[in-house]
Amino acid sequence: MLTNLEHLGLAVHDLVAATALYTKLLGTEPYKQEHVASEAVDTVFFRVGGSKIELLAGTSADSAISKYLLKKPEGIHHVAFEVDNIRAEMARLRAEGFVLLNDEPKRGADNKLVCFVHPKSANGVLVELCQTVRSKVTSGEITDSESRHPSS
Ligand code: CO
Repeated sequence: MLTNLEHLGLAVHDLVAATALYTKLLGTEPYKQEHVASEAVDTVFFRVGGSKIELLAGTSADSAISKYLLKKPEGIHHVAFEVDNIRAEMARLRAEGFVLLNDEPKRGADNKLVCFVHPKSANGVLVELCQTVRSKVTSGEITDSESRHPSS
């Protein structure tokens, strides 16, 4: 189930300049900056009510954002919906005939598992599904209980 319009991803050439502009426009400082090595992007996040703005700049020529900005002007790059179960939503959309850009959920920015829907199957819009990853406390608890019951 889609539960929220989680964020809009905006492709920018100059992350420092765009961060200054959006800080003024939104009247708030960003709450997070994160480098996503797997995507070769630097990201900056702003909260807007229950939603977010994600600024994206490529950090190498073969980054998807760098390639995108060779062909298109800066602007809205993708629309991201929060989902409660990303694998279930991927299966639902596949069954509906949508083309997914990744077969398995992958680790995205801001502590999320993500999957993208090809713009060709979504009226020209790159759609991101994202699910917040559970905190590390869970794995710590598992490790802890395993260490207390080593024979089980
Ligand atoms: Co995004």
